[in-house]
Amino acid sequence: MTEAIPPWRPLLRAAMQREGRSVAARWVQLATTGRDGAPRVRTLVFRGWAGADLLELFSDQRSEKVKELADVAASELCWLFPKARQQYRLRGLVELIPASEQPELCQQRWQQLSETGRAVWGWPTPADPLDPSADFPERLRETAKLPEHFVVLQMRVNTVERLNLGPHPHQRTRWNADTLWREQPLNP
Ligand SMILES: Cc1cc2nc3c(=O)[nH]c(=O)nc-3n(C[C@H](O)[C@H](O)[C@H](O)COP(=O)(O)O)c2cc1C
Repeated sequence: MTEAIPPWRPLLRAAMQREGRSVAARWVQLATTGRDGAPRVRTLVFRGWAGADLLELFSDQRSEKVKELADVAASELCWLFPKARQQYRLRGLVELIPASEQPELCQQRWQQLSETGRAVWGWPTPADPLDPSADFPERLRETAKLPEHFVVLQMRVNTVERLNLGPHPHQRTRWNADTLWREQPLNP
C-alpha cells in the first residue's frame, strides 16, 4: 500500500523548486542534543524521501552528531528557502542505519553519490587533530568499497512548522502526525 503524502510535502517541494538550481536549496540545519546536554547544530545535505514522512541524510558514523543521535534520537531540522521567504522546521526521531546493519541500502545510497560527494568518507576521522601528512582524496569512484563508517540517517517526521514571510500578516502553520497532519494555523 502506498503511504499518503502529508499535506506539507507538496508545499515544501514548491518552496524548494522556487530556489531553482541553487545547491543551497538542499542544505538543512540539523539540531541535536550534545552529550553535555547543550544544543548542537550543523548543516547537512537533504538526500531525499525514503517514505512519506521519512527524510534522509547521510553522515559519518565517527562524527559527533551520530554519537549524539545514538543517545538522543529526537532532533529538529531547520530548512530555509530564501526566494520563497519560507522557513520549515521538521521534528522527529532519527534512526541510524549503518552499513553493518543494512549493507544493501547503504550500498545503493553510496552509489548514488557523485565522486566528489563520496570523497569525504575517505578522509580521516572528523574532528581529530589534523595530520598534514594524512590522505584527503578529492574523489572516490563508484567502485570504491562502501566505508564501514558510512551511515544513513532517517528522520521519521512527527511535527512540521512552516513560516511564510510572503503575505501580510506572515503565515505560521503547524502539522502534527498525531492529528493525521491536520493543518493548524498559528499566530506568526
Ligand atoms: C553545505 C554543507 C553541507 C554539508 N553536508 C553534510 C552532510 O550531508 N553530511 C555530513 O555528515 N556533514 C555535512 N556537512 C558537514 C557538517 O556541517 C559538519 O561540519 C560535520 O558533519 C561535523 O559535524 P558534527 O561534529 O556535529 O558531527 C556539511 C557542511 C556544509 C557546510
